[in-house]
Amino acid sequence: MKSAVTKAKEARPVLQQKDFLTLHALDGSEMMALLDEAVKLKKETKAGVHKPYLQGKVLGMIFEKASTRTRVSFEVGMQQLGGNAIFLSKQDIQLGRGESNADTAKVLSRYVDGLMIRTFGHDIIETYAKEATIPVINGLTDMHHPTQVLADLLTIYEYKGKLAGLKLAYLGDGHNNMCHSLIEGAVKTGIDMTIACPAGYEPDDGIYQTMKQEAEENGSTLTCSENPIEAVTNADIVITDVWASMGKEAESEERHFHEFQVNQTLCQHANEDYIFLHCLPAHRGEEVTADIIDGPHSVVFDEAENRLHVQKALLKILLSNE
Ligand code: CP
Ligand code: NVA
Repeated sequence: MKSAVTKAKEARPVLQQKDFLTLHALDGSEMMALLDEAVKLKKETKAGVHKPYLQGKVLGMIFEKASTRTRVSFEVGMQQLGGNAIFLSKQDIQLGRGESNADTAKVLSRYVDGLMIRTFGHDIIETYAKEATIPVINGLTDMHHPTQVLADLLTIYEYKGKLAGLKLAYLGDGHNNMCHSLIEGAVKTGIDMTIACPAGYEPDDGIYQTMKQEAEENGSTLTCSENPIEAVTNADIVITDVWASMGKEAESEERHFHEFQVNQTLCQHANEDYIFLHCLPAHRGEEVTADIIDGPHSVVFDEAENRLHVQKALLKILLSNE
């Protein structure tokens, strides 16, 4: 006979939260369950099987910033799951004329089954989550890009067959959405992460200290320095991102992080079978050289494809009535 604890665990939904705003909100087992679901859905998709798990469901997608991958992968993902997605550009809805985020959240909750939002301040998406009665998914804020990092973790898992115990080096802007979500994703899954960034561009101290403590508790490591060679030495995974994220373009001139460029000289220090990831879009010749991003260690297009599969898993879990 099953114990009450076992029964309770079995009954527990894969995600405890209504919304998906950061990876910090998940525990390691929830993250692995999401990745398992993504593996299952990817297999089905590759076999040409598209089960209508979300028949009749509609996802609203508010974009305050540009997007290729996020927009298309969420829209196609909803269609493959039997539902629909509506693209809502800020300029085209009343949000652009000053209607509040709170009112927008309340109104859209009456029409659609979930909201995906790409915006600036993380507080904006927190307002949506608070005011909406439907699940809210973070499609990128200035501070976090959690669906991208889910895709990164799936890609790493596919290439390396595991997550815990690997060494991940991140180079460049440490105070951006990708670095913050990578910190949370790495620590939650037991990956050892080293960050090399210029002084003044370190990760948010609150996120860094919280996750460093969590890493110590789970036996993994999280470090940050200004030394790119030290970061990349013996790395299994090398990741970078643009030097100036969306909204920071005015600072492009002062963000010349050449010492942190991912190039052949630097990557000689990584493990022979290292993989290179970049969320894209990339600037060849800036944060990464063309021979690396277009070379044999690069898995950036598998990484981009995996946005579709992990987001389908997330949508299925958050929006289905099962
Ligand atoms: N990686 C990513 O989020 O790409 P888009 O900006 O094209 O959505
Ligand atoms: N850090 C980048 C990621 C783009 C997908 C940005 O915010 O512009």
